[in-house]
Amino acid sequence: MSDRIAHPHYRGLVMSAEEAATKIQHGMTVGMSGFTGSGYPKAVPTALAAHIEAEHAAGRPMKIKVWTGASTGPELDGVLAKANGIEMRLPFNTDPTARDRINKGEMDYLDMHLGQVAPMAWQGFLGEMDVAVVEVVGIRADGSLIPSSSVGNNKTWLDRAKAIILEVNEWQSELLEGVHDVYYGTALPPNRVPIPLTRVTDRIGEPGLRCDMSKVVAVVVTDTPDRNAPFSPPDDTARAIADHLLEFLGHEVKKGRLPETLLPLQSGVGNVANAVMTGLVDGPFHNMTAYSEVIQDGMLDLLDSGRLLMASATAFSLSPEAAERANDRMSFYREKMILRPQEISNHPEVIRRLGCIAMNGLIEADIYGNINSTCVMGSRMQNGIGGSGDFARNAYISIFMTPSTAKNGAISAIVPQVSHVDHIMQDVAVIVTEQGLADLRGLSPKKRADLIINNCSHPYYRDGLKDYYNRALKGSYGLHAPSLPGEALSWHQRFIDTGTMKF
Ligand code: COA
Repeated sequence: MSDRIAHPHYRGLVMSAEEAATKIQHGMTVGMSGFTGSGYPKAVPTALAAHIEAEHAAGRPMKIKVWTGASTGPELDGVLAKANGIEMRLPFNTDPTARDRINKGEMDYLDMHLGQVAPMAWQGFLGEMDVAVVEVVGIRADGSLIPSSSVGNNKTWLDRAKAIILEVNEWQSELLEGVHDVYYGTALPPNRVPIPLTRVTDRIGEPGLRCDMSKVVAVVVTDTPDRNAPFSPPDDTARAIADHLLEFLGHEVKKGRLPETLLPLQSGVGNVANAVMTGLVDGPFHNMTAYSEVIQDGMLDLLDSGRLLMASATAFSLSPEAAERANDRMSFYREKMILRPQEISNHPEVIRRLGCIAMNGLIEADIYGNINSTCVMGSRMQNGIGGSGDFARNAYISIFMTPSTAKNGAISAIVPQVSHVDHIMQDVAVIVTEQGLADLRGLSPKKRADLIINNCSHPYYRDGLKDYYNRALKGSYGLHAPSLPGEALSWHQRFIDTGTMKF
């Protein structure tokens, strides 16, 4: 029996993951905890996947709908996708097997703004939630739950689900207790009130999750580490992107448009975003804060360096090495972090009020600065929009960053027209690649095109972009944002036909 279960009622519900998994049946909607590879249940989904495989082998149908905070780890999305046990998935995924099934049309996928998932679940049109499976650090004597390494949508799943399964994970540091701030004031309109969060350091909620004991049907004890994919170490390209960005931020400080401490930083998922955080360690800025979605390795480095005073997020998103480091040094980090529900970490009201500097990755940008964050060649889902839309539209400065090419140069990240739009040009203030930076604020489409092509595109593709744009200036239907519709997506078609966008 785990001494992390301090309430006798819950102690009586302890069972094996296999037994707990039998509470989940074909056709059910299951809300799982987890946001990136953090705080997701590990034992019950693995047991469930084995059960699903057995059902399929016996010729019986068995599929569920899976809602989470964001992506999870191999013991959740990985095993369930491999077992072909997911009928529908929302709101974000990075698992390669699930991605493959989505792109083969074998799994329905609802790609949503992460800040909107909880309110939409409450509005009701997504349907009812049958079971919530939530990882926690422990259960307090009063029956409330100590959240794990992510908060995500757990508050909403616990409230909405008809039945609850808890995984108490003893691998998670007990020092996480007190790091969380769970706000319960998010009633739907017309009963909505302003969120009283005016500084990154504000605590406006409770340290634990409320839980209706009568709904809990199983408690499973585990001891399994969080698993995130490791980040690639910053290469020359990522370092060049970080350098351009630091120079830009320094320039903004000199111009008096940003304070010397900058404004709260939001850093997206992925290798490039992580490299920029690492780059800030050696930059000129001190006493910074972060109001973001995830705390990744680079942000841990910034906290270590003392440059970052406080990081607010909804989850850790750490490589295995950094996750061990975080656990070992939790007594240091716990004073410098707050983990909130994702409907608060990603809330437009708060992001706009704090004036976040949003920094997100992209798949491709077009010459006017529209951004595709999700669909390769317009149709193949990479991950999802995540929180990039929550932040981009509401940020003080919305920055998007990318290497200027992908797939060893076969794809230009700057294209005549994006093949899918996630962020419209009005939501995009700055684009930066290793080639340079385009500050697009206050510029009309034609001026944006000049800057993006000249500053951001790869030299191999630059002449092709100029050629397209110059001909569009002559042959376009209108000259506000010149375009040649019959040709605008020809670079993508060339890639689909030949495997490269090269001429
Ligand atoms: N065409 C095809 N593939 C592309 C591409 C393009 N234009 N741009 C990137 N990719 C591929 C890369 O080749 C790489 O593939 P691989 O894993 O098979 O090697 C993968 O996308 C990741 O690209 P990488 O260059 O390593 O960048 P990243 O790790 O910074 O991720 C995104 C870039 C766009 C995928 C990532 O930022 C993302 O998912 N963004 C959307 C969600 C988001 O912004 N969340 C943050 C909100 S807080």
